[in-house]
Amino acid sequence: MVACLSSKVLLVGGGGREDAIARQITASGAELFSALKNRNPSIIARSREYLIVDELDYPAIANFAVSRGVDLVFIGPDPVLDTPLADSLMEKGIKVASPSRRAAKIETSKAYMRDLMDRYRIQGNIESHLVSGHDELEKLILNGTEEYAVKPIGLTGGKGVKVMGIQLSGRPEAYEYAREILSRDGQVLLEERISGEEFSQMVFTDGTHVIPMPLAQDFKRAYEGDQGPNTGGMGSITDRDHQLPFVDSQTREKSLSILSSILGAMRTEGTPFVGVMYGQFMATREGPKVVEINARFADPEGINVLSIMDGDFAELIFSMAEGNLRNTVNFRKMATVLKYIVPPGYGTNPAPGTLEIDSGLETDKLMLYYAAVSGTMNRVNMSGSRALALVGLAESICQASDIVEAALPKIHGNYYVRHDIGSREMMEKKIRRP
Ligand code: GLY
Repeated sequence: MVACLSSKVLLVGGGGREDAIARQITASGAELFSALKNRNPSIIARSREYLIVDELDYPAIANFAVSRGVDLVFIGPDPVLDTPLADSLMEKGIKVASPSRRAAKIETSKAYMRDLMDRYRIQGNIESHLVSGHDELEKLILNGTEEYAVKPIGLTGGKGVKVMGIQLSGRPEAYEYAREILSRDGQVLLEERISGEEFSQMVFTDGTHVIPMPLAQDFKRAYEGDQGPNTGGMGSITDRDHQLPFVDSQTREKSLSILSSILGAMRTEGTPFVGVMYGQFMATREGPKVVEINARFADPEGINVLSIMDGDFAELIFSMAEGNLRNTVNFRKMATVLKYIVPPGYGTNPAPGTLEIDSGLETDKLMLYYAAVSGTMNRVNMSGSRALALVGLAESICQASDIVEAALPKIHGNYYVRHDIGSREMMEKKIRRP
């Protein structure tokens, strides 16, 4: 079926990423239905009908889809992929442009992802140890010489990974953190510590074919200069040529080939992956290394790429769900910078409050997306999470950053934003780095 004006698409999720997806669905002429936990004013304004719901309550969401005669469902947030929602919709004959629960395991179990890459000898994998006993933990961390990234196996909202020498200052601290995860989850993953610039490569896929999106970089640390605790992501950049100044084209090609190999392995395993696959890579001297593979649009990087996407997004996601991927979109040649406005203390002890937003803030060079907020387009209540995303579009990353900075005085209230994302100083440092 080709998406047409009467197609009904249900979007699950109420964050900034979902606001950007909602705009693309309605711009394609499809009718938007939404299921979300917060009263996101932008998504609600675009929806023909919406359901305020715990996003993990898959029977309620599936019933809503069936009762409204929805043709296709698109899932935004990762925790929803770890419920039986996609499978139960498919059993009811509803198309889903997101992975089944088993295919989403590529994100929801970091141990599965490492094991799959290992078994199929896919390039870009790194040394890892899945530890389930205290003695082994002691041997590797307290008595070992290697440095590790210490990770829970499952979803962490970007906040559970801690790296020795960065968030974990000595072996005893690393051991304590790993022991805490082991005692709670029964397992902990220790991955070889690697260094380099991280980049995000997202693709649309029907399980076999891929359509790459522009490269992006996410800034996870809470404070300027990449300091402080990890967060869900404070902002992100893409460049005019859809590359990044610190990722050469060979590295990008290799990262795409790694994603294709993972898709091939998943087909062989009998769990073909349909949806957006988001590879988070590190550019190292030995080529791109896989940091994580995710089963959805990145947030925030997905918002950057959706902001420069033209064409028929609804048709693309229908073709993806039908196993017959067709490229019906293209990305404008513009640089983008996204900065998230968050409550003060976000990342540790957030202090939610209210934000007032001047009317008429959006232009053809500046987008304003609503994230984990409830309220109206001019006045929102923040939760403890990311509130608003401002995206500047320009000829260069630095100019796009300036566009966002110029718009900040139009948002009133007590908030925090990382001004350094995409600044000249930051970009010069990144390009100079050997
Ligand atoms: N960009 C971080 C994430 O979406 O997980």
